Amino acid sequence: MSQPESTHNKVAVITGASSGIGLVTARELAGAGYEVVIISRESEHADAARATVAAAATGPAPVQYFADLASQAQIRDVAARIRRSHEHIDVLINNAGASFSAREQTEDGIERTFAVNHLAPFLLTRLLLDLVVRADAGRIVMVSSETHSRRLDFANLQGEKRYNFFAAYTRSKLENVLFAYELARRLDGTRATVNALSPGPARSRFGDNMSGFPLRFSKAMKRTPLFKSPEQAARTSVWLATSPDVEGVTGKFFMHSKERRSKRITHDPAVAARLWTVSEELTGLAGATEEIDAAA
Ligand SMILES: NC(=O)c1ccc[n+]([C@@H]2O[C@H](COP(=O)([O-])OP(=O)(O)OC[C@H]3O[C@@H](n4cnc5c(N)ncnc54)[C@H](OP(=O)(O)O)[C@@H]3O)[C@@H](O)[C@H]2O)c1
Repeated sequence: MSQPESTHNKVAVITGASSGIGLVTARELAGAGYEVVIISRESEHADAARATVAAAATGPAPVQYFADLASQAQIRDVAARIRRSHEHIDVLINNAGASFSAREQTEDGIERTFAVNHLAPFLLTRLLLDLVVRADAGRIVMVSSETHSRRLDFANLQGEKRYNFFAAYTRSKLENVLFAYELARRLDGTRATVNALSPGPARSRFGDNMSGFPLRFSKAMKRTPLFKSPEQAARTSVWLATSPDVEGVTGKFFMHSKERRSKRITHDPAVAARLWTVSEELTGLAGATEEIDAAA
């Protein structure tokens, strides 16, 4: 394995660092000397998580910004605050994610799984993209799952025809991979890279917000030996964010710090381009290509 580079003046932005895999990832990056910028919802455990990351920091103290990623207004606000405080982003880790027992809509009128797991990282990444491209070798990491769906019904993107918590979740994790691959194509010619990963099954707080069968299912799964600690699960995120081994590598899917072939549909550029267009329309970004052009 190659030697890590200096992390002096390196900035890592991470979502979902209040718990589980994101908290371990943030702690590791802070321990490696990155200035970690945490985006979380306000809660006591978010405050405790920030303190944990601060205690591990060997470089600058972590910065915490609050945003509910189910709200596009709050994503825009947090992106604007980061843009005011930082000139570049070396690592952007879209880690926050959730699953919901029943179909719910956000304040923007969007199904919640699709909003939090796909549209939120899509919008946040687009709003911060030029800062990533401005870094020496900016990296975007999408925390997806090996359970990503093998098909995408554009007429049921938001569970309009039928809703099932697991189908909505695996669809959103497919969208993470499609977004990563499409963005990698669009970033061709820049120094920035974007990859997707699966942390593998992990015993985190994931699913604890659900009720009924989905909650029982999630709790039962977490009792199986398949589910690893958040420390083990965070390894691929940390490796993709920091390792010289993956310098310049882009548009790939990883698990256990090794490249893995993602489902066949993820390699269809027409599906990815269509999802991109729909996502732009739903986030008010339609026609906004200037941030890639300007940064390239
Ligand atoms: N655990 C697994 O088995 C597994 C397997 C494959 C992939 N993954 C992926 O790994 C990622 C991390 O999950 P985890 O297992 O670490 O779960 P977790 O312990 O539940 O952590 C999820 C994080 O996302 C944040 N989040 C959720 N909804 C949010 C919202 N609306 N706004 C802002 N932040 C929000 C949570 O914040 P709060 O503290 O405010 O809720 C929390 O920090 C997810 O993308 C998940 O899909 C997990």
